[in-house]
Amino acid sequence: MASSNTMAGGDGPNSYSQHSTYQRALLEVAKEKINEAISTELDINSASNRFNIADFGCSTGPNTFLAVQNIIDAVEEKYRKQPQQIPDDNTEFHVFFNDHSNNDFNTLFKTLPPIKKYSVAGVPGSFFGRVLPRDSLHVGHCSYSLHWLSQVPKGIADRSSPAWNKDIYCTGFSKEVAEAYLDQFKIDFGSFLEARGEEFVSGGLLFLLGSCLPDGVKMSETMKGMLFDCMGSCLHDVAKEGLIDQEELDKFNFPIYPAHVEEFKRVIEDNGCFTIKAFERISHENEEYPLDPKFLATSYKVTFGGVLESRFGKDAMEKTMQLIEEKCSEILPQLANAKSGMQYFIMLQKN
Ligand SMILES: C[S@@+](CC[C@H](N)C(=O)[O-])C[C@H]1O[C@@H](n2cnc3c(N)ncnc32)[C@H](O)[C@@H]1O
Repeated sequence: MASSNTMAGGDGPNSYSQHSTYQRALLEVAKEKINEAISTELDINSASNRFNIADFGCSTGPNTFLAVQNIIDAVEEKYRKQPQQIPDDNTEFHVFFNDHSNNDFNTLFKTLPPIKKYSVAGVPGSFFGRVLPRDSLHVGHCSYSLHWLSQVPKGIADRSSPAWNKDIYCTGFSKEVAEAYLDQFKIDFGSFLEARGEEFVSGGLLFLLGSCLPDGVKMSETMKGMLFDCMGSCLHDVAKEGLIDQEELDKFNFPIYPAHVEEFKRVIEDNGCFTIKAFERISHENEEYPLDPKFLATSYKVTFGGVLESRFGKDAMEKTMQLIEEKCSEILPQLANAKSGMQYFIMLQKN
């Protein structure tokens, strides 16, 4: 089943916009790298003074505004230092915010920074397809979004398939399950690059930030993997209480796959539209989620609550989140020993 899994909208206490400081910390630490990259690597040749930026999987903000501002600051610094090059100080910035059409774009537009040097447009639709005109994009950004697949891979929810996954997530225990997720990732990330390959101008830069698994590390050894397993076990408890149908739960999985470094690189190389200019681990002060059960449960609620609510109903979702908070307190020592280093900074240049 195809899916569209947006974050909790609005800007109230249970919204993604109020609970995305963890993701924001990565954008803050990536600013210097983006600055440096735009200064040294951005190499576009355009007769127009339009400079187009897009954020793919923007959600509701404020992180997307920070991402965009980081890019604009870097471009402005570039033309202050290198005035003879394009872009120059006549440059007009146009920003395109992309997410699924059911993302809360109203909140996004209502909370735009009051003073900004760019015009704005929303480009709704899946980023696995084209959302922008051909040869129009100069700098693209995408953070914490590419682990979402377009759908739960075939076979995963089918009891008769060797890839049937009774647990909720691909944590690496069954070879068939892992292969099914990887195959779907290859299709989806390949489509993402194909679409961006058409939208980008030659020499433009695409920044991909967020979760990626170091080679040799299993998802189940990481904090995020442990939290997913914890969520799975809470869902089973809620099913035992009768709030979720066990049959339905056995067929349920998240369309999520944090790829390993080599898997990412292989798809980029096979696609051929971009050259990898940087692929590095990046650490920030919130390297992992803080070991605070309330924080963890709220983060999971704003990120995954929508998926659970649409599948199992609001009461079951609320109960699951309550249990997650309780169980997180019990597994804190395990979480504290999880493998870290899942944050990556990837820079691609359009050939
Ligand atoms: C965790 S949020 C990240 C938001 C923001 N980039 C940040 O770093 O805070 C992931 C976002 O990716 C979006 N997303 C996932 N799959 C997508 C797709 N196929 N097309 C467009 N957006 C997608 C989700 O709707 C969600 O808003």
